[in-house]
Order: sequence, then structure tokens, then C-alpha cells
Amino acid sequence: MSRTLLIIKPDATERDMVGHIVSRLEKARYSVVEMRMMNLTTEQAREFYAVHEGKPFLDDLVAFMTTGRVVPMVLEKENAVLDLRTLVGATNPVNADCGTIRYEIGRNIEKNSVHASDSDENAAKEIAFFFDK
Ligand code: CMP
Repeated sequence: MSRTLLIIKPDATERDMVGHIVSRLEKARYSVVEMRMMNLTTEQAREFYAVHEGKPFLDDLVAFMTTGRVVPMVLEKENAVLDLRTLVGATNPVNADCGTIRYEIGRNIEKNSVHASDSDENAAKEIAFFFDK
């Protein structure tokens, strides 16, 4: 078993899609082992996306991530990180494969409904960011 982090973003919480997304994850054999609902501060959003420091989209991304509720959760299954990237789909919903979460409900490259960790190393860091006790 391995673990990864998914965040439901403000464009999805404002459309009341939390249950829909969790249902899709559970049907894909993920167990939700930790979950919370919160509003990110600008500082928290900037720290979370520090890897994108210097990128032209960072300021807009940070602003968007603080516009509403987010739902970070820890998901567990075999091959959790890679399987979740497949289920979530490409960053830009117009490039996402049919049947992926972003194809289905993503609005655009920024408001793409969910974030998923891109490696085991980053999953561990991102899980600690939200759930370190
Ligand atoms: P996420 O998986 O959360 O990781 C970084 C986020 O930056 C990405 O999803 C998008 O929401 C956002 N973003 C906005 N513009 C871009 C871009 N041009 N390239 C990559 N990510 C972008």
C-alpha cells in the first residue's frame, strides 16, 4: 500500500462536487484515510506551491486557491501516486483523457478541480504539509 495527497480545489467545492469526487476515488479503490475542509491563507498557498516560484501563473494560482474552501485528503491504495495521476488527467482539462476527473469537471488549466501529488517524494511532503500532527 502507498499514499498520495489530493486537494479538491475551490472551483469544485463551490459547485458542491466534494461527494462526487470522493465517490469517484472510492470506486477507483482508494481509501480516504485523512481528510479536512479549510480555507488556505495566501501564505499557505504560496508555501504549498513553492515549487512554482517564478512561474508566470503562480500569483493567479495562489489567489484562486484562497477564493474558497479546499479539501485536502490522504488516499491509500497500491501504486497510489501514479494511479491517481491517471484518474485525475492532464493539468489542462482540454488535454485530459475522456473519463478522467479533470475531463469531466475541470473548467480550465487553473480551475482544474483537483491537485494530485506527482511523485512519492512530493506526496510525503504534501501529506506532512496538511496532516503533520
Ligand atoms: P496543480 O496540479 O494543482 O499544480 C499546479 C497548478 O498550477 C496546476 O494544477 C494548475 O491549476 C495551475 N496552473 C495554472 N497555469 C498553469 C500552467 N500554465 N502550467 C501548469 N500549471 C498551471
